[in-house]
Amino acid sequence: MSKLRLKTTALCAIVAFALSLSSPPAALAHKGAMGIVKERMDKFEASEKATKRIKQALSRGDTAVVTAEAELLVSWAREMDNYFPENSNQTPSEARDEIWLQWDDFIGAIQSFNNASNALMDAAASEDPRAMRGAFKEMTKSCKSCHQQFRED
Ligand code: HEC
Repeated sequence: MSKLRLKTTALCAIVAFALSLSSPPAALAHKGAMGIVKERMDKFEASEKATKRIKQALSRGDTAVVTAEAELLVSWAREMDNYFPENSNQTPSEARDEIWLQWDDFIGAIQSFNNASNALMDAAASEDPRAMRGAFKEMTKSCKSCHQQFRED
């Protein structure tokens, strides 16, 4: 192999390595999260998956799954405040300072989510598809409304 060829190969390897370091894929964006920030991100991810499973279950009329996943959301709502100790919004957290500056409002937003998740369980118990769809919509609204106020975009 010629010297020039070797140099080119080495250069390519360096460029490829440098590229691999920049801009990680979105799914890995919070890989650097540690401790309580990582724990609550995982919890939120799980709640998003539960929400997707509920949506699918609603479209095939699977009430048992709606109930089980709504239960998971209720238990997450009950413990969510413990996952936001003071001074826990270090990078890469998307939590806004308003959480701690307006703690009562934040608790209120958790409460709305708790109520909406309980209402979804009640609707599932009634086995009324319309009630379930309505309650599901309200529950997802409670996610979004907290994000608007307390999560960075
Ligand atoms: C009371 C407020 C509140 C409610 C209710 C809430 N969230 Fe969040 N959510 C947050 C905050 C704050 C963060 C940012 C956490 C962080 O980055 O430290 C977040 C982050 C997330 C994330 C990103 C997690 C990650 O890996 O970075 C997802 C996904 C998410 N929430 C989904 C949901 C879903 C789905 C619901 C409803 C079922 C919901 N959230 C309800 C406040 C809330």
